[in-house]
Amino acid sequence: MTKYVIRGGNPLHGEVEISGAKNAAVAILPGALLVNGVCRIENVPNISDVTLILGIMENLGAKIRFLNPTTVEVDSTAVYKQNVPYELGRHIRASYYLIGALLGRFGRAIVPLPGGCDLGDRPIDQHLKGFDAMGADTQVEGGFVYATAPVGSRLKGASVYFDVVSVGATMNLMLAAALADGMTVLENVAKEPHIVDLANFLNSMGADVRGAGTDVIKIRGVKSLRGGTYSIIPDQIEAGTYMTAVAAAGGEVRISNVIPKHLDCITAKLVEMGVEIEEDGDAVIVRRTGKLRRTNVKTLPYPGFPTDMQPQIAAVLCLAEGTSMLTEGIWDNRYRYVDEFRRLGARITVDGKVAVIEGVKQLIGAPVTACDLRAGAAMVVAGLAAHGVTEVDQVHYIERGYQNIVEKLAKLGADIHAETILTPDEDWRSSAG
Ligand code: EPU
Repeated sequence: MTKYVIRGGNPLHGEVEISGAKNAAVAILPGALLVNGVCRIENVPNISDVTLILGIMENLGAKIRFLNPTTVEVDSTAVYKQNVPYELGRHIRASYYLIGALLGRFGRAIVPLPGGCDLGDRPIDQHLKGFDAMGADTQVEGGFVYATAPVGSRLKGASVYFDVVSVGATMNLMLAAALADGMTVLENVAKEPHIVDLANFLNSMGADVRGAGTDVIKIRGVKSLRGGTYSIIPDQIEAGTYMTAVAAAGGEVRISNVIPKHLDCITAKLVEMGVEIEEDGDAVIVRRTGKLRRTNVKTLPYPGFPTDMQPQIAAVLCLAEGTSMLTEGIWDNRYRYVDEFRRLGARITVDGKVAVIEGVKQLIGAPVTACDLRAGAAMVVAGLAAHGVTEVDQVHYIERGYQNIVEKLAKLGADIHAETILTPDEDWRSSAG
């Protein structure tokens, strides 16, 4: 096991390069299963969620080859299995994209119900409703989703109006519809940057997807997809996390390889709080020298403030002058980190989906436990600003979504390193030896 040890108080300076977007990669890689040929995918983030997805695809018969640390070649010609083993699929939320991809290409998918971070109730009813509308038979039994198209035929284009705006259901239906017979119209869809990225990927392989980034996406099914090369967009949330790190710790950092437009929703809030942000081509320069001001934040589907930035902005609000109100608009239970923040001296009270944060002059370092990916990242952000030493454990959550976070922060001048923790059993053995 590993923990991060952070001695807070160093302002951040220099440049950090953002990796490819996790939530685009975990849909685009399964999308390569739709292609009866070779896809070369660039700017793939080196994170454990990607490793897990590629491991599943390899188990299904895809040939996976890294050409360099961030470019992967996926050859799905010889995929022969459509059932994902429980042990491989259960750890990752995005395994649900294998349902859309396998059903779309082979007319059959057996996939364990998805795992992932515990953020409250995470149903997949909208995914299943969409597959059913396309003529599939879907059953959930014994912890698995069984989905089959009518024998001998492909999925049929259909109109689907989603009851809730869902990133996963939107992308899963895009995957399923790419090779269906006829036109699929998806309404009330999500508009996140990764939705557009998946559409661009599919189109670059020969699909016909229009309207991604608006409320309605139309997909005219094509007979087959050809191979090609595609580069994943930069990660909006990784970039946002470094923006909050500078806001919390102070300093001036150039955050490069970003699409500044995708960051507008985050930039707007940080500027309200007194952070200076300048756009410079495919970079943003973030500077914080003065005091932080309070503000209110509500998370919403894109282009609103992202829920995946909620714990990180909370870390900054903890240090702002005055009392801020933070409202979670997507998940039922995304405040599990609050007790850990209190250990750092934060003053937060939570009532349902609303957190009231009273800014403090200084957070004080303490041992804390990451309880999910973004909460873990937020503990790192808080630790960078805190007085003294913060130790974050359960960092495997953080490594699901942040490539080389320790190295990137250390290069910016943070005093942070990873340390191996011995389990009680290992500890006993080492002292005995
Ligand atoms: N929902 C339903 N039924 C469904 C699907 C969703 O009721 O069939 C509800 C959910 O309960 C939630 C809301 O709709 O209240 C939105 O859920 P969505 O489907 O958009 O979330 P997701 O696809 O499961 C993705 C990201 C999350 C991110 C959300 C919202 C991936 C793998 N995960 O989850 O990312 O919080 O969209 O933007 O893309 C993270 O990266 O840390 C993370 C948790």
